Amino acid sequence: MASMDELKKAAGVRAADMIKDGMIVGLGTGSTAAHMVNRLAERIKTEGIHVTGVSTSWSTTLQCRSLGIPLKEMGEVSHLDMVIDGADEIDPNRNLIKGRGAAHLLEKIVASMTDNYVIIADSGKAVQQLGTKFAVPLEIIPGAIAVVTERVKKLGGEVKVRMGAPGKDGPVISDSGNLIADAKFAPIADPDKLARDLEHIVGIVGHGLFINMATKVILADEAKGLIEF
Ligand code: A5P
Repeated sequence: MASMDELKKAAGVRAADMIKDGMIVGLGTGSTAAHMVNRLAERIKTEGIHVTGVSTSWSTTLQCRSLGIPLKEMGEVSHLDMVIDGADEIDPNRNLIKGRGAAHLLEKIVASMTDNYVIIADSGKAVQQLGTKFAVPLEIIPGAIAVVTERVKKLGGEVKVRMGAPGKDGPVISDSGNLIADAKFAPIADPDKLARDLEHIVGIVGHGLFINMATKVILADEAKGLIEF
């Protein structure tokens, strides 16, 4: 029986094998994306393909540097040939919750630069309705935490500032210096509307609902192998 990590690796390898010579590719964050980055590095070495990455987080940047994958800064590009990333929940319409790794704002900026956005995950991430298992991650300007908490409550969400990253006391701070919080809703009937409502709250600079962005999902399932939709 394949382990969870072997399933994630299978999805990561499949996506990395879709990258073509000459592409500029957005590289996501998380354990599944890390497998994809490893496979890309292997292809660059063994096949001699020329690929430039745009990283979505410090953790992915450090991994790319250690593997010798050439990188461009996010702020240097406005179009990407492809973006590959993980997700925390995926619904049948390829809408997503992202942000367990606190990188959702930078991940969304990178995702917005492509019309070829591939999501890789194990099949445990598939849900009928977003919000079933996960809260919606928020990135909040620190001074707005009280007003944001109150406004999100009116939308039916309970906001909790994320605490306790391993090896660090206090709240989780994003790569852009903002607070990360999680808003727990009941399963979300209309994720598009909730996304727009959250965007209207001043002080939220990013949320983890990715609506109508992913163009392909590759799920690794223990029984069925790789499922693409
Ligand atoms: C990072 O902020 C998230 O959006 C990740 O993409 C997500 O947590 C996936 O991580 P795993 O592949 O480790 O499940």
